[in-house]
Amino acid sequence: MQIIRDIAMLQRAVTALKQGGKSVALVPTMGSLHDGHVSLVRMAKRVADHAVVSIFVNPTQFGPNEDFAAYPRDEARDAAMLAQEGTSLLWAPDVATVYPSGHSTHIEVSELGADYCGAARPGHFDGVATVVAKLFNQVRPDVAIFGEKDWQQLAIIRRMARDLDFGIDILGAPIARDTDGLALSSRNAYLSKDQRAAATAFPAALKAAATAIAGGDEVNETLAKAEAAIVKSGFDSVDYVALADADSLERLDAFRKPARLLAAARIGKTRLIDNLAVG
Ligand code: PAJ
Repeated sequence: MQIIRDIAMLQRAVTALKQGGKSVALVPTMGSLHDGHVSLVRMAKRVADHAVVSIFVNPTQFGPNEDFAAYPRDEARDAAMLAQEGTSLLWAPDVATVYPSGHSTHIEVSELGADYCGAARPGHFDGVATVVAKLFNQVRPDVAIFGEKDWQQLAIIRRMARDLDFGIDILGAPIARDTDGLALSSRNAYLSKDQRAAATAFPAALKAAATAIAGGDEVNETLAKAEAAIVKSGFDSVDYVALADADSLERLDAFRKPARLLAAARIGKTRLIDNLAVG
């Protein structure tokens, strides 16, 4: 596996990978890889000839009081995992390569980015869309793969690829979960033993709510019950538990397909997100 940090070298390497009509799938990540990321790399290898993975902890998607500096980083461990999975190329630029001084152009996401995580994290999705657009232009893949774990992010990237004519297929990969149901996340590493034990109530409450809504229970009452169950189990607060149109992300007061239950909650200093198909 090649590890590359320079844009001109990256583009030469990707051109070489594409020789003979071979296809390239990109998996953008911020590193600190777990089995969720690995499932994306495996999907990349299934749908394309070469998997290219990027690791870049993107400062522009972190708010001023968020965990940019503390975000877990271990490139050597990540690189070993990726090599093991048959990744062709690891793109690991530093901040000055991605945002050279004087960088002043960014992407602004309008309605899809306003609610849910966008409401709790102003500017977050502008930062995500901007870095993903840059990664697309740097790597020029045929396909890019994102996890359904970040459902709103996936919807925003799909829309951006269409709106800005990237000509890249965007694929979503199912959520990888621990045996007790908690969605894998690099941020789970922040949880104490007790918090980790309590966190399992979060996906359990969502599953119960999704089943109730699909079975005809009143939507807003069911969402309120789920919020109460999450707080009762040891979470400090719930940012949102919402039923949304799976594609437009419009909030739904009554169940209709395709619908997705979206949620974010805080336990100690850690903010966890999850989502589930309904029906
Ligand atoms: P990161 O949180 O590292 O996630 C990288 C990719 O892995 C995302 O597409 C995310 O949805 C996916 N992923 C994370 N946990 C997952 C799980 N349990 N199951 C399935 N997929 C999972 O998301 C980002 O980085 C950044 O915002 C990025 C897109 C790289 C832009 O900076």
